Amino acid sequence: MIDRATSAYRPKLIEVALPLDAINKASAREKSIRHGHPSTLHLWWARRPLAACRAVIWASLVDDPSAHPDRFPSEESQAAERERLFNILERLVVWENSNNPDVLSEAQAEIKLYVEGEPPAVLDPFAGGGAIPLEAQRLGLRALAGDLNPVAVLINRAVLDIPQRFANRPPAHPTARKDLVTWAGAQGLAADVGAYGAWMRVEAKRRIGHLYPDVIGVEGERLTPIAWIWARTVKSPDPAWGGHVPLVRSWTLRKAKKNRPEVWVEPIVDTATQTINYRVITNSAGGGGGKTVALSPRQ
Ligand SMILES: C[S@@+](CC[C@H](N)C(=O)[O-])C[C@H]1O[C@@H](n2cnc3c(N)ncnc32)[C@H](O)[C@@H]1O
Repeated sequence: MIDRATSAYRPKLIEVALPLDAINKASAREKSIRHGHPSTLHLWWARRPLAACRAVIWASLVDDPSAHPDRFPSEESQAAERERLFNILERLVVWENSNNPDVLSEAQAEIKLYVEGEPPAVLDPFAGGGAIPLEAQRLGLRALAGDLNPVAVLINRAVLDIPQRFANRPPAHPTARKDLVTWAGAQGLAADVGAYGAWMRVEAKRRIGHLYPDVIGVEGERLTPIAWIWARTVKSPDPAWGGHVPLVRSWTLRKAKKNRPEVWVEPIVDTATQTINYRVITNSAGGGGGKTVALSPRQ
């Protein structure tokens, strides 16, 4: 434990002051980032904003100017130096600078001034979505992460471990390899994930695509479903009906809310052909001006 009374104690920036407005603003903005943010990989329920984690780790390693009275003897000189550090931090927390080599190396150089030799490793035993170890890694620190929940461990493996293992390596996929000129950082891995992902998509469509057909809208247009609702079926107990019927607890797709009409599925039973068709109905009486979309049969 550090004795605050001894001269060996050097307060860190986080203990004295932080540019909270800039950190809060960058943290709030992250909620609307739709590309490149780990939350687009998997929604972890308790994820912390990357900007806040980045700021906290950096400001926990960089000394406050008051720790160096030899260099900053007056309050004015300390305030001026603090402003300089704030300036670095304010640029560091901006989402667009997350992979900016100039901003990152400036921040990393500042850390190196205040750690003897190697910067310390960061251990987050409750890593969840991995925000803290990811930001530690970004700041050039060795990051160790763990979690009780295997889903969190999987996210951390995908975000922290695998990109590091394949860093600066060319893609393995022949087309991706041909298309990519440089493979700095995770570029090679990303190209492989893209190329093999596209192959899997094509292959999945070829093998099981017939089970997920497009539907035909009321005006005859082709619509691609974005979700499927599965139901168990049982053989109909009706002696006049030979087919299977679905077991469904509720046909409601969306409950009515203020200015949002209810949407539900309506089965259309044709006893003559012994088929069931389904259509999606939007309750226009709810105020939303709904329309009915007929779905092609899915037996
Ligand atoms: C608040 S969340 C961490 C959020 C994380 N900082 C992020 O940004 O995503 C707390 C985590 O602690 C984990 N946890 C709870 N009890 C634990 C235990 N005894 N050992 C390891 N992990 C545990 C939970 O699974 C959860 O992921």
